[in-house]
Amino acid sequence: MNEPVIEESNGIVEQLDQEMAIIKSFLEHLEYTLGKDKYSATKYDGFNALAYAVRDHLVERWLDTQQAYYNSDDKRVYYISMEFLMGRALGNSLINLGMYEDFKEAITSLGYDFEAILAEEQDAGLGNGGLGRLAACFLDSMATMSIPAYGYGIRYEYGIFRQHIVDGAQLEIPDNWLRYRNPWELDRQEHLHTVKFYGRVITTINSQGQLVREWVDTEDVMAMAYDTPIPGYQTHSVNTLRLWSAKSSREFDLKFFNEGNYIRAVEKKMQSETISKVLYPADNVIEGKELRFKQEYFLASATVHDVLYRFKKKHNDLKLLPDKVAIQLNDTHPALAIPELIRVLIDLNSLSFDEAWEITRKVFGYTNHTILPEALEQWPVWFFEQILPRHLQIIYDINDRFIKDIQARFPDDPERVARMSIVEEHWERKIRMAHLAIVGSHSVNGVAALHSEILKNELFRDFYEMYPERFNNKTNGITQRRWLKMSNPQLSGLIDEYIGDAWTRDLFELEKLRAVAGDPEFKERWKQVKRANKEALCTYILKHSGLVVDPDSMFDVQVKRIHEYKRQLLNVLHIITLFNRIKDNPQARVVPRTFIFAGKAAPSYSIAKLIIRLITAVAEVVNRDPDVAGRIKVVFLANYGVSLAEKIFPASDLSEQISTAGTEASGTGNMKFALNGALTIGTLDGANIEIMEEVGRDNIFIFGLTAAEVAELKNRGYNPKEYYNSNLELRRVLDMISSGFFSPGAPDLFHPITDSLLNLGDHYMLLADYASYVKCQEQVSELFLNQDEWTRRAILNSAGMGKFSSDRTIEEYAREIWGIKPLDIRPGAVELQRH
Ligand code: IMP
Repeated sequence: MNEPVIEESNGIVEQLDQEMAIIKSFLEHLEYTLGKDKYSATKYDGFNALAYAVRDHLVERWLDTQQAYYNSDDKRVYYISMEFLMGRALGNSLINLGMYEDFKEAITSLGYDFEAILAEEQDAGLGNGGLGRLAACFLDSMATMSIPAYGYGIRYEYGIFRQHIVDGAQLEIPDNWLRYRNPWELDRQEHLHTVKFYGRVITTINSQGQLVREWVDTEDVMAMAYDTPIPGYQTHSVNTLRLWSAKSSREFDLKFFNEGNYIRAVEKKMQSETISKVLYPADNVIEGKELRFKQEYFLASATVHDVLYRFKKKHNDLKLLPDKVAIQLNDTHPALAIPELIRVLIDLNSLSFDEAWEITRKVFGYTNHTILPEALEQWPVWFFEQILPRHLQIIYDINDRFIKDIQARFPDDPERVARMSIVEEHWERKIRMAHLAIVGSHSVNGVAALHSEILKNELFRDFYEMYPERFNNKTNGITQRRWLKMSNPQLSGLIDEYIGDAWTRDLFELEKLRAVAGDPEFKERWKQVKRANKEALCTYILKHSGLVVDPDSMFDVQVKRIHEYKRQLLNVLHIITLFNRIKDNPQARVVPRTFIFAGKAAPSYSIAKLIIRLITAVAEVVNRDPDVAGRIKVVFLANYGVSLAEKIFPASDLSEQISTAGTEASGTGNMKFALNGALTIGTLDGANIEIMEEVGRDNIFIFGLTAAEVAELKNRGYNPKEYYNSNLELRRVLDMISSGFFSPGAPDLFHPITDSLLNLGDHYMLLADYASYVKCQEQVSELFLNQDEWTRRAILNSAGMGKFSSDRTIEEYAREIWGIKPLDIRPGAVELQRH
């Protein structure tokens, strides 16, 4: 009878030991690593000490994992991306280590506010939007699934700008995130690679009579590695995110300092280090700047050298490279890695072109993220001539062979050759990076089923006809650890109570929620959680925008980058429509809604910035009007990013996914909303279609033209004026915007917006979808009145999210593209050595 008591007290002793160990480690880091005592420690020191204490736990597992990769010598995957939108790491690391509660108790017992310490951490904002956040979710999944994987990117000193809203407009503030220390990164002074720029190519003949190219008189920059450990969830594996920072080379320093002009020499040195200074803040559009081109090559070259360095530790025969290495290109941004690998194989390792080409194609996979023409990278040939002359030769060699292949397959079709060539010959000659990436890879994938079909049938149709076996789809996903377990602890606690917590490793487990979706008690608890999350967001809104918001109103949310194709404007047209209906009939029955927007506009994208201006102007009018009080409110939350998103998704009722069909490649915000029990109003675009398939047509609000109908209407000749003339409500809304109703001090302010809709063709067909959207929103309102049914459908949305775990996506990449299996990292599974 006594035994259980002893066991129990043993458990308590163990827990106390654990708590003491945490406290000791925390205090030691505060004192010895940071040199602070209780008189001098700030809250930020508290965060740093805590982060170091957590990092200690990561490092041991990390070394074990890295050794296991070497010892097993299994194939590894390198995920190269110009963006990694990581957000905060501390809470996530604790959850993945299974130590969140232990740390919370220990730190709280010292008198600290644990959550406030977590909130001290700066977001690592090394990305713009979906593409960068996808890379971060993939890192979490790859570590969780024990896949031998590395993320490779750039250690930008300035991440995505901080957005302030001043007088209703976006103001960009530099994000100097490294100003204070970054406790997660480990600098690797010994991992330095030389990256060459400029210079010229000389051709000689070697003793065997072969042509040898040498790239000489280059300006060299060093790439130095900084590693961030990426812990998997409930596993021993910890992977690496390696980010490159630019440092001037010694030779470079000497050359300029020897010239005797000290200050100019320092200036030159700083210039060479600007490569990793700043993230380009444009999403889904290219900025054809020379510095961006250099950044892309800097990442590509340093990574290729690192890949080969690691390979060569175990192997001499480069023909084995495809058996040991897969490289995945996150869009074309790192596609210069293709000619770079060929260059290194030929020029530095004496392989023939054919050998190098064969190896390269087997190693690379390319993920396309957009079909928007303005986002497809094309670099002027003269950039290559000046900055990467050897790569230009290689690209021409690739293209010569490729064109011969096209001609052999499709004789007498010169137009096809012109369309497919890697070199665009019109106007200014350019290199089409997507064509290079397709030709140089064994796999080309889109990121949602519809998007992959568009790639095959439209954008890359010629390529699909030539290489059908290369094309495949990998629908995007998100990590449920961050986007439900961490960011919505109340909902995940409730789910655990009813169906257990296996969903954290296998999201399909959420299907079990279907059985309780009708259970009155479960629904009631679900509602209470949503209500509590909404109250928390109300507090945030009050603090940050001074607005009092009703937690009982429907939270109708559109948060994402501001872009015309995403159609925040269509949402605004609906808000103004409701406003007018209330003004016309102040007694009208309107379901109370709070419209919440957040998102950054690229600093150079003037119409997107004007859309922000319009949202805040409409908010001014709507929120002040006594007739609409208590019915509709409009909020624009500044500085959307990962940490703000974590607050918004759990509190949302309605998710706005309203892009013009055929324009949004996938979307991943749509998945985060639905996972947290929001209903979606959306077009049949991107992953919305697959979300509909999973949650059921009855549990999602679909409106608007399909992608096929969009294409057909464009072909027929789309005339937005027809819609303007025939829909009185629409016409009134547009007239209000253009007449200055929302900008009385500057009546012309919003003319560019109404012009783009009425006079410049309404490229994204807002007017064509307006009536259908407004009608669909009426159905949304109707359902919201029935809270019981709304909640049941919200539960069914969460229940249907199994497919959208990034674990599923990564499993497909690993099996179908990379040929990589998870490795068992538990201590003892693979021989490990310490010291
Ligand atoms: P990297 O791959 O050179 O970046 O090294 C990362 C980690 O891998 C090191 O800190 C070691 O823990 C481990 N490692 C590197 N080389 C070897 C090796 O040859 N055998 C076993 N483990 C290694």
